This record gives sequence, C-alpha cells and structure tokens, in this order.
Amino acid sequence: MRIPWIEIIDFRSYPRLRFQPEPGLNVLLGPNGQGKTNLLEALGVLLTGRSFRTPRLAELPAWGAERAQVAGEVARGGVIRVVRLAIGRQGPRAELEGQLCPWARAVTFCAPDLGLLSGPPQARRAYLDAFAAKVYPAHAVALGRYRAALQQRGRLLQQGVGRGAALEPWDQQVAELGATVLGRRLQALEALRGETQTLSGLLELLPGAVELEYLATAPLQADPLRQAEALRAALRARRGEEVARGLTLVGPHRDDLGVRLAGRDARAYASRGEQRPLALFLRLAEVGAIVHQLGAPPVLLLDDPLSELDGAARERLLAWLEGQEQAVVSATDAPPLPPRAAAWEVWRGGVAAAEPLGARVGA
Ligand SMILES: Nc1ncnc2c1ncn2[C@@H]1O[C@H](COP(=O)(O)OP(=O)(O)O)[C@@H](O)[C@H]1O
Ligand SMILES: [Mg+2]
Repeated sequence: MRIPWIEIIDFRSYPRLRFQPEPGLNVLLGPNGQGKTNLLEALGVLLTGRSFRTPRLAELPAWGAERAQVAGEVARGGVIRVVRLAIGRQGPRAELEGQLCPWARAVTFCAPDLGLLSGPPQARRAYLDAFAAKVYPAHAVALGRYRAALQQRGRLLQQGVGRGAALEPWDQQVAELGATVLGRRLQALEALRGETQTLSGLLELLPGAVELEYLATAPLQADPLRQAEALRAALRARRGEEVARGLTLVGPHRDDLGVRLAGRDARAYASRGEQRPLALFLRLAEVGAIVHQLGAPPVLLLDDPLSELDGAARERLLAWLEGQEQAVVSATDAPPLPPRAAAWEVWRGGVAAAEPLGARVGA
C-alpha cells in the first residue's frame, strides 16, 4: 500500500504542508531540527492514528495551535481511502477525531526503538504485541481484556484477598485471557522468525544470524486449554509471593523476547554499534510477515536507518527499500542513492524535491 498525498496543518513544526511521496523509495534529507522526523511522524499518524515516538498526542499540535490536522489518502491496489484526522489539545490529554483506514499498516523505525535491545522486557513485549496486532487485529482486544483482568486481580491481591476463594474466578479469567494473548504472540513470533532468516541473507546488516526466542514465565503449551491450565497452575504455585507483593507475577505481562545475535544474548552483549542495526532489522522483519499474513505490503517509515551501517550495508538496504511499494526514510548526510529513489530536501516548515526532480512542493 502507499500514501499518494498527505496534508498537515499545525502539525509540530509545520504550519501547513502538502507532500506527495513517490511510490518506491523516498529519502528526506536535511540537517537536524528541520522537521524530517516530524514529517515521518505525520505519515505514521495518517496510517495508524498514533505517533511512533510518543504516546502523548497532545505534543502534536504546533505550539500555540489548538489542534493539528492530518489528511491524506491511503491506496491499496485500486482501492483508495481518504483519511481526515484532527488532534485537539485538551489539557494534558488529546483526542483523535476522524476515521482511520482499517487496513492501513505501517512499519516504523525511530530512535526509541533502540530500547528494543537495551531496554526492559516491556519494550520487547510491546514490539511483539504491536506486530501481532498488525497481523491479528483481535490481539489488541484480547490484550486489553487481559490487562483489565490483571488489574482487578491486582486490586484483590493488594486488599489481601488472596487467601480466600475470591481470587479463584480472577485466576480463571487471567489464565484464559493470558492463554489467548500467549497463543497470538507465539504465532506472531513464528511469522517474524521466518522473515529474519530471509532478510539476514538479503541485507547482511549484522555480523551473524538473529534468533528470536519467547521467554515465558509459565510452561508453554501448544493447546490453548492446556495453556490456560498451565497458567492457572503457575499462578497457584506463586500465590503466597503474589499476596505478599500485591502483584501477579506469572503470565504474558511478565514474559520477555530473547534476541540472540551470532549465538549470544543481544540484550546483554550487543555493542552500541550493533543495537541500532539490530533494532532496525527487527522492524524490517515485520514487512515480509505482514505481506504474508495480510497480502499487502505496509508503508515503511524509517527515521535515520542508515547511521551505524557501513557503505556496503547502506547500499544493500537502500536497494531493498527501492523495491518496496513505498518507503519514506530520513538521512542527515546525503548517501549515494539508487537510481529510482526520490530525494526530498526538508527545511523548517517545508519540503521540496531535491535535484534533479526540481519542483518545489512545500509550504
Ligand atoms: N509541537 C511542536 N510545535 C512546534 N514545533 C515543534 C513541536 N514539536 C517539535 N517541534 C520542533 O520541531 C523541530 C524538530 O523537528 P524534527 O522533525 O525532530 O527534526 P529532524 O528530524 O529534521 O532533526 C524542533 O526544532 C522542535 O523545536
Ligand atoms: Mg530527526
């Protein structure tokens, strides 16, 4: 799928901009602070209704503006959807108004993704859950219900109810919903694993193979009923400790994703220079998995994907991106671009096609 055009008003550093990215690879060029990340963020909001760099939508309206507006089209095959969104600034909270395109998908890479390797397990669970929700929309719903059940159970534990029978129905709920969440995560992981193998050989961004492993706090079972039983048994076994701490200590909300690079635990041993390409690699693995599951490629929005890559790896990555239906990436220094790439110059508040495309389209 692709974005034929986007129009933003009072979105971060852009008072008003209309941008028509080309099919294939688009490269946003320009010094720091000019608005490259902001534009990628706006493209992401158009597709997903969220920002890839902050959970706080209230940051999106330009300073001094009441609301940001994002409009544009999403095209898949011959089907085109117009999306019009407004993000109002209501105190610390912000509301998204407008209808999203239900089949729009983005694969994004941005600075906070470095936390995928160096951050706490929460970052890796979020990666897996976000990907699972892209390919199985029911995953987000199940996850929400699981979290709600956990909260209820947590409240009872904190009230010291744990010794009575009152906890039993919540154990059942948490175990059943937990088994659903776990099942989807494992399916999602399988889909990603297939892609990491294909991509490793293709891009050679890293000095060895990447292996992903689900690290569960309760024994894994192939059958969902068995999985729910295993979770219940694990809850029962830890109950004393859970009552003492007022927390549910086993289940998908405590699991982790193991990432190995060339046979070693990347969470502990990947160098700074390896963490960035590794996080990028995990994001890129989503692309093929989405194509397989949904039959249509996502739009790629990658913020500064080339840094920490040597010249040959940059070239392979750019060539691969050029072959995608649509990718928009940012770079601070102009790398040698493949022949069909569209280069864009970004300056404060505007975007223009860089030579030789010529025409000015910004502001
Ligand atoms: N809500 C906002 N309103 C106005 N300007 C903003 C807002 N949020 C960020 N900015 C400005 O956007 C600029 C950063 O843009 P960014 O896209 O991150 O630059 P780049 O990626 O090109 O380095 C900063 O100078 C910042 O002051
Ligand atoms: Mg930036």
